[in-house]
Amino acid sequence: MPSKPKSPEPQPEAQKNWLVTWATRLGIFAVVIAALGWLDTIKDRWYVFEPGFLHELAQSAVATYPGDTRSMINHIVTNLTETYPTNTIRINTNEEWVFNNAGGAMGAMYIIHASITEYLIIFGTPLGTEGHSGIHTADDYFHILHGEQWAFKPGALEMERYTPGMVHLMPRGVAKQYKMHEGCWALEYARGWIPLMLPFGFADTLTSTLDVPTLYSTVRITAREMLGNLLIAKI
Ligand SMILES: *[C@@H]1O[C@H](CO)[C@@H](O)[C@H](O)[C@H]1NC(C)=O
Repeated sequence: MPSKPKSPEPQPEAQKNWLVTWATRLGIFAVVIAALGWLDTIKDRWYVFEPGFLHELAQSAVATYPGDTRSMINHIVTNLTETYPTNTIRINTNEEWVFNNAGGAMGAMYIIHASITEYLIIFGTPLGTEGHSGIHTADDYFHILHGEQWAFKPGALEMERYTPGMVHLMPRGVAKQYKMHEGCWALEYARGWIPLMLPFGFADTLTSTLDVPTLYSTVRITAREMLGNLLIAKI
C-alpha cells in the first residue's frame, strides 16, 4: 500500500489567500459598523410622534377623566387617529391586550403603534408590580395616567415618585428599579431602535412564564404593525 502522503506545508499562495479572506471580512465588518453608526445619527428623521405633544395629550386625558383609565385610553387613541393621517403612521385602534412580563415585572399592554424607530403602548396593571426597567436602545417616556410609579437608581437613597400627568423619562442606556405601586396605568412612548428592545421584552416569557399564547399574540401584533408601517414608508 502506498504510504499516506504527508500533509503539505502551507504554501505561500494559501497564506496569501487566507490574508485576503480575513482582510475582506474585517473590511466588511468595518463598513457595517460605520453604516450602523451613520444610521444611528439619522434615526431622528423617522420619528413621527413628538414627546411634547404626547405629554400634553396625556395631561389632557388625566385632566378630562381623572381616575377613569377607560375613558383616558379612548381620549388618547381618538386624538391620535384625528391628528395623524393614515398614510403617515399606523395607529392600531383594535384594543388587543396582552400580558407583558419583562425584568421581573408583569402587566398588560395595548400596542397603539410599533415601528422600527418608535412604539407607543398603554401599559399597566390594576394590581401593582415591580422589577428592573431593562437597559434599552431607545429613550423611554413613561406618562402616568393613573396611580403612581416609583423608581430609583443605585446611589440614590430616596425614591423618585411619578404621579398622574407626570412623565418619567428614561434615556437610552439607563437602568432603574421601578415599582408601579398598587394599580397604575401609563402611556409609554419609546423612540430609538425598537427591534433591539424586543429580546428584553421576550426573555421572561422564554425563561419563566412559558406563556406561548401571549408570546404568539405579541409577536403577531408587533410584526403586523411594524410591517404595516414599513409599507407606508414609516420606518
Ligand atoms: C389632541 O391633543 C392635543 C394635546 O392635548 C390638542 O392640542 C389637540 O387639539 C388634540 N386634537 C384633537 C383633534 O382633539
